Amino acid sequence: MKKIIAITKGDGIGPEVVEQGLKVLKTISDYTEFEFEFKEAPAGGEIYKRFGKSFPKKSFEIIKSSDALLFGAVGLPDLPPGVAEQPILRIRQGLDLYVNLRPIKLYNGLRDRCPLKDEFIGEGIDITFVRENTEGLYAFKGAVLKNDIAENLMVYTRKGCERIIKYAFEYANKRNHSKVTSVDKANLLSPSQLWRKIFHEIGADYPNIEKEDIYIDAFCQWLIRKPDAFQTVVTGNMFGDIISDEGAFLIGSLGMASSGNINPGKVSMYEPIHGSAPDIAGKGIANPIGTILSVNLMMQESFQSPEIGNEIEKAVEDALAEGRTVDIKNPKIKTLSTKEMGELISEKLKNKLKN
Ligand code: NAD
Ligand code: IPM
Ligand code: MN
Repeated sequence: MKKIIAITKGDGIGPEVVEQGLKVLKTISDYTEFEFEFKEAPAGGEIYKRFGKSFPKKSFEIIKSSDALLFGAVGLPDLPPGVAEQPILRIRQGLDLYVNLRPIKLYNGLRDRCPLKDEFIGEGIDITFVRENTEGLYAFKGAVLKNDIAENLMVYTRKGCERIIKYAFEYANKRNHSKVTSVDKANLLSPSQLWRKIFHEIGADYPNIEKEDIYIDAFCQWLIRKPDAFQTVVTGNMFGDIISDEGAFLIGSLGMASSGNINPGKVSMYEPIHGSAPDIAGKGIANPIGTILSVNLMMQESFQSPEIGNEIEKAVEDALAEGRTVDIKNPKIKTLSTKEMGELISEKLKNKLKN
């Protein structure tokens, strides 16, 4: 099965972690029926510095004509805010990738790196954030930045709410989740009031699934107070951005968390949720697992290969018992570089796919 995968390495640790994601993809093509062709689609701050554009037209053409995109991270501290980051938003909007799927799962082997005490971890952490990915404060509507006034409109539409909420219920249904939690700020914001109304309208079509509403501020404490209470969590764009970084640290590190920017059936983008991490860039110590688990999501969601995706996850779990990058280090387990971690996981995956 031939697939074209566009590759955007980006800035900072982006190229370092994408290189490890590529190793995993190459292992898959070596040991399964998949055949991948990789096409580079440069974007971000470094390319802006060289050519004056952070998202060259040609890159977008390459992405649009691919089957999926693996994206590293963009952002450079010496550029004005938003210049390097623009491509992410242009891809999400341009391809109408309205779902941002962000699973947060604490592996048993990583409980030592969870900042919560056992009492709070409870039954374990296995949550999927379904973040709306095209509207809200990210709708590019009404942006004003004058001397003493700055504005961004938070725009939600019925269509935008309906499709993401429906996706979340379908996602929960497929995984036998008994509850969907909606996170909003309906005690204050009109977009959240529309959101909440539609959440219950759509939810009525899923009588077997419990519906729960929580305000964003309270949710942030519930997430660390009782994370085992959540399964599928659906929320707006800005809130989803914030709670997914909070969730990522609960599973050990921002470097562990993966994401899929998805429009079902269309070209979708897979990326770790972290940024370019200028504080550790170039040191070879970044955790590549968020990127590798994004390859898992690519296999599951774009290439309909849950079996291979599951093997990637198992390979990650096995590797964590033998080696760790410094952000999730354990004195009893060997500390590895980015490259070594990627190699270890690819080796584990190879052994699983061979059998
Ligand atoms: P960040 O996610 O880059 O880093 C936050 C902290 O987490 C840092 O201490 C970093 O070292 C650590 N971290 C992140 N990824 C890690 C990994 N894989 N392994 C180990 N540690 C890791 O967030 P920031 O510092 O706020 O942002 C830096 C730049 O990245 C900014 O320009 C921002 O706009 C951009 N950004 C881009 C994306 C993206 O490309 N999708 C996402 C978030 C932020
Ligand atoms: C993310 C990032 C982006 C966002 C930024 C870089 C525009 O933080 O993917 O979580 O806010 O969505
Ligand atoms: Mn973010």
